[in-house]
Amino acid sequence: MVHDPAGYGDAFADVYDDWYADFFDTPGAVLALANLSGPGPVLELGVGTGRLAIPLAESGITVIGIDASAAMLERLRTKDPSTTVAGVLADMAAFGEILRSDPRGLPTEGYPLAFCAFNTFFNLDSEDLQSACLFETAAVLSPGGRLVIEAFVPTDPDSVPDRAFAAARVESEREVITSTEHDADSQTIRGRHIEKLADGHVHIRPWSVRYLSPSQLDQLAANAGLELETRHEDWRGLAFTELSQRHVSVYRRR
Ligand SMILES: C[S@@+](CC[C@H](N)C(=O)[O-])C[C@H]1O[C@@H](n2cnc3c(N)ncnc32)[C@H](O)[C@@H]1O
Repeated sequence: MVHDPAGYGDAFADVYDDWYADFFDTPGAVLALANLSGPGPVLELGVGTGRLAIPLAESGITVIGIDASAAMLERLRTKDPSTTVAGVLADMAAFGEILRSDPRGLPTEGYPLAFCAFNTFFNLDSEDLQSACLFETAAVLSPGGRLVIEAFVPTDPDSVPDRAFAAARVESEREVITSTEHDADSQTIRGRHIEKLADGHVHIRPWSVRYLSPSQLDQLAANAGLELETRHEDWRGLAFTELSQRHVSVYRRR
């Protein structure tokens, strides 16, 4: 699979806020992140349109947001004209050098908190990329600094069909379906959101994810010097159980 870090963001930037507005517990996430960050600085991996970064920055926390998609960062700038969030165009699997050469003199290390919300970590669609991201992030955290990852818990791979079509879980007045191809060996799903336009044409938005079980994620994080500190089902501290479909995991740099 060719690594295209801007692919997801460029494909979804025009609809992201509309389609997913009611999908999230944004206030719960912002509160949890603010409690972990202190005054910051805080690094968001895959900042997107600033759903979390903007309210965090507005509460007085210094927030730097990495994103590989110029289209997503453009949306962020429109929603945040006074640039309370510093957007950085970079691949979250390789951002350290770009951060260090940024002319704005952004913090390059000593972050007490980094986070990667809403399955964004799985947009890195190979183990090498996921691992690189964890090492890059560990390198900019302060000793004892934390990385929070929010992600879905994969179901048994044998129960996921190799190919599927389904109605997309998005808030759209138009019909949107997803087509997916699953490869259990590489733990990847390649998908397309197919939107039927009023004139009968279709708009196709491609995406791909490499899913990890929580224990696989813990192992990759541990390799990068990040140890699991807490895991909950949601941002408000609901207990994580074997029935949980999502997790919010906090890793601490050794
Ligand atoms: C699902 S959106 C999440 C946006 C925002 N964090 C939120 O929670 O609403 C994923 C974001 O990650 C960005 N992204 C995906 N892969 C990336 C990569 N390799 N490097 C940097 N950003 C990436 C996308 O452009 C998109 O803006």
